[in-house]
Amino acid sequence: MKTIIEPFRIKSVEPIRMTTVEQREGILREAGFNTFLIRARDVIIDLLTDSGTGAMSAEQWAGVMRGDESYAGADSFFRFRDVMRSVTGMENILPTHQGRASERILFELIGGKGLVVPNNAHFDTTRANIEHSGAEAVNLPIPEAKDPSSRHPFKGNMDVAGLEELISRVGRDRIPAVMCTVTNNSGGGQPVSLANLRAIRKVCDAHRIPFFLDACRFAENAWFVKQREPGQQHRTVREIVRDMFDLVDGSTISAKKDGMVNIGGVLLIRDKSLFTRACNLLILTEGYVTYGGLAGRDLEAMAQGFQEVLEEDYLHYRIRSTEYLGEKLLASGIHIVEPPGGHAIYIDAKHFAPHIPQEQFPGQAVVCGLYRVGGIRACEIGSVMFGGPGRPAPAMELVRLAIPRRVYTQSHIDYVAEAAAELFAKRKHLRGLRITEAPEVLRHFTVRFAEI
Ligand SMILES: Cc1ncc(COP(=O)(O)O)c(C=O)c1O
Repeated sequence: MKTIIEPFRIKSVEPIRMTTVEQREGILREAGFNTFLIRARDVIIDLLTDSGTGAMSAEQWAGVMRGDESYAGADSFFRFRDVMRSVTGMENILPTHQGRASERILFELIGGKGLVVPNNAHFDTTRANIEHSGAEAVNLPIPEAKDPSSRHPFKGNMDVAGLEELISRVGRDRIPAVMCTVTNNSGGGQPVSLANLRAIRKVCDAHRIPFFLDACRFAENAWFVKQREPGQQHRTVREIVRDMFDLVDGSTISAKKDGMVNIGGVLLIRDKSLFTRACNLLILTEGYVTYGGLAGRDLEAMAQGFQEVLEEDYLHYRIRSTEYLGEKLLASGIHIVEPPGGHAIYIDAKHFAPHIPQEQFPGQAVVCGLYRVGGIRACEIGSVMFGGPGRPAPAMELVRLAIPRRVYTQSHIDYVAEAAAELFAKRKHLRGLRITEAPEVLRHFTVRFAEI
């Protein structure tokens, strides 16, 4: 069959509140043109993020009822730990309340002033936690990653020659770890090949530098490897996932993505002594080592979610439905980061609004336009998120349409494509923005703008 259907039926529904263009105009102004500051009830289709916004399965909800809420040694922890061990092959597993808690613990231990942490592309919270420790976060994407129209099959890959050059320039003693983000969220949700992960491992081995994965979307990455990497087609996603984790010394994971839960994170560390120090920090701020800031029911939901995400019918539907939105936008003449990523479509805002200069935030102008036209909430990934005093302007100005897992149907996606096409047709009316208030770090969450 050519139609790839959702491999699930809907058992429970949540109403969407419709709004008019006039109502949305008032809401947008009140929110200072920042869609993070809009109430969720005022959004028709929420594509702000795929993080923690997915629908849980009947089995996950059954796990919620089974949750063992004992403070220490709860059964739910051991179920979660055993699943994570079988999926990743790693022994030392800590639950955390979300990905950035894992990052905070890791970089409090290995970061610090004068140090440098390379990545294919750091996510905003990873960068912020590294910089908070005093270290410098360096992005090393391959050159194709900066060209939205390049259809490189593994555009999330790290520039391995760039990594070697960085090591010889700053010295291995200043690099506490190399990270690689799968899939690469800041660079268009693009996958990283096994060959690239192996090449990074080789460089890390030669210089005795630990290698960590930011593995939020490990299953989506493995699906792309199975589809695109020569010699991987006959293998299961589970086997490919295991290969990915076998190559690294540890991993930070936000379970709100491929863990298929609304809250949760994981920290994996092979080195026993570093792991022990992480346990102590976890106890200091997150909670005891068998719950890590979560309830037992959350651990049950994660244990089930980390298995469901490896079901290949699910991954087939997931990646195909993202691609479907990408194809519709391309057919309307909208430029996107190609090929479509795993969890999101990234609109090229420089092409969409060429009359708005980078310092007037063309991505944010498109975000505001999508909300006005269709009540669609998207996320700017460009100068608002990564710019700021003393920071260079990013190479791309993107608008991310992130697709929550198992939430929207094909007609919701058709509606998004129609609204985006309508906005594109009248794009010359889009206006630039200037910042009226901004915090020092992670400014995109609370910044306010005025229209120019
Ligand atoms: C690649 C990547 N790393 C880290 C994080 C942080 O995870 P969390 O939001 O659970 O703290 C995210 C969240 O979107 C992400 O996409």
